[in-house]
Amino acid sequence: MLKQWIQEAKHTVIFTGAGMSTESGLPDFRSANQGLWRKKNPSKIASTDALNNNVEEFIAFYRQRVLGVKEYKPHKGHHILADWERKGIIQSIITQNVDGFHQLAGSARVAELHGTLQKLHCQVCGREYDSTEYVHKDYHCECGGILRPNVVLFGESLPEEAFQLALQDTEKSDLFIVLGSSLSVTPANQFPLIAKENGAKLVIVNQEETQMDLYADKVIRNKKIGELLQELDQEIRVK
Ligand code: APR
Repeated sequence: MLKQWIQEAKHTVIFTGAGMSTESGLPDFRSANQGLWRKKNPSKIASTDALNNNVEEFIAFYRQRVLGVKEYKPHKGHHILADWERKGIIQSIITQNVDGFHQLAGSARVAELHGTLQKLHCQVCGREYDSTEYVHKDYHCECGGILRPNVVLFGESLPEEAFQLALQDTEKSDLFIVLGSSLSVTPANQFPLIAKENGAKLVIVNQEETQMDLYADKVIRNKKIGELLQELDQEIRVK
């Protein structure tokens, strides 16, 4: 049935969370066994407070995650989504992920709601660096300011441009597919609801229950995302 919906839809939006990248080797946040927030309190580590008052731990945590996105790669599922965009099967991706894997796999229209770990900027002068700077163990700008990743920290607002792009595509969508998100963080988790309110069909592909399952037209829990995308890719002919 999902195959038909994808083939019949006029404007399909894919909304991804950390579950899209676990098959690349990156841990997610809230999975029962491996989630990052099972070991660390996010507000203590991924916040402006941590950056200002606990900088060593903040840098150590983000250096680890930057190393992860440099070491691991997009998986087949990311490449299938990029291929589907080129074929006009899907129109855009909204992602909460900061690994940059959709763009690395070739997706063009990607709204990064929570920013990216691929870039850093100086807290003081705003100068931007590639995040390999963190790998070289230093985290100071030439001006002496501290370098932080271009991610949205808890307590910060989302980047306006990405938010507007996501809102535009969500309002146009007639099929909205969530891949690998617990949908527990606002305002990102409002997009599936906005799509639904605009008459779109909502599909949630997630191994665990999410807060928005009750609004979904279809919930797929018994399949990993990579496996599902490969199966669908086999079945779908170009529209
Ligand atoms: N296939 C299907 N589902 C999966 C897979 C997989 N291969 N791997 C993990 N999942 C599911 C997990 O069951 C989990 O419910 O993906 C979901 C990921 O949820 P979270 O770990 O909460 O990640 P996410 O929803 O992206 O978190 C949102 O929280 O900490 C902030 O800014 C951070 O962007 C992040 C936001």
